Amino acid sequence: MARRKKIYEGKAKTLYEGPEPGTIVQYFKDDATAFNAEKKDVIEGKGVLNNMLSEYFMTGLTNVGIPNHFMKRLNMREQLVRACEIIPLEVIVRNYAAGSMAKRLGMDEGTQLPRPIVEYCLKNDKLGDPLVTEEHIAAFGWATQQDMDDILSLALRVNDFLAGVMYGVGIKLIDFKIEIGRVYEGDFMRLIVADEISPDSCRLWDIETGQKLDKDVFRRDLGSLTDAYSEVAKRLGVMPKAS
Ligand code: C5P
Repeated sequence: MARRKKIYEGKAKTLYEGPEPGTIVQYFKDDATAFNAEKKDVIEGKGVLNNMLSEYFMTGLTNVGIPNHFMKRLNMREQLVRACEIIPLEVIVRNYAAGSMAKRLGMDEGTQLPRPIVEYCLKNDKLGDPLVTEEHIAAFGWATQQDMDDILSLALRVNDFLAGVMYGVGIKLIDFKIEIGRVYEGDFMRLIVADEISPDSCRLWDIETGQKLDKDVFRRDLGSLTDAYSEVAKRLGVMPKAS
């Protein structure tokens, strides 16, 4: 089969033109990067696990009525998704202090937050995805006030869904990042969850032991990343057969 036209190559995924207008093929690579790509490696099988896990989470979102870009998985490494105009923000939801917020505010990792906290970072690799406020977002026109209301609502709905699913398999959802895209339907524009939801973009800790089952295993050299992601997949009943 002729290779599809490449649209974009990111750190963990490559996007190709899809078979129909308005569709995109999202290919999950084995590349792992951290600290704005200062740390890099190829982790065999990671792409397959993230493809299957993102399918699992996005299908779950669809089933509870949260709009997202997922259409269908094509093979072990590729999924067909709806094309959308990505809003240049990383939307982070935190239930427990960890990572950059724990550092910024001098908090112990694992401290439960009084309520979920939503943060926004500008998607800009050169700048290292800096934290921005709604003031910046409004003033620079990255999103409208209506968009921000919708993004907050989507982010909290995704949090409720994901936290519940993970709790059901003995995993605490510490935090996660999503991206949001615009789709146009006739005269209407609506926002959908895009990109991926996987252990690359979430912090997941075993409820009993606190063991990390996410990309921090790679960032902090804590052992095998594929073992950690496979454990998440196994608990959720999502089992890739081969890479
Ligand atoms: O590094 P930080 O603590 O800000 O990350 C918060 C959450 O967002 C983590 O789950 C992390 O994996 C995710 N994240 C991401 N992509 C980024 C930055 C953060 O998936 N570029």
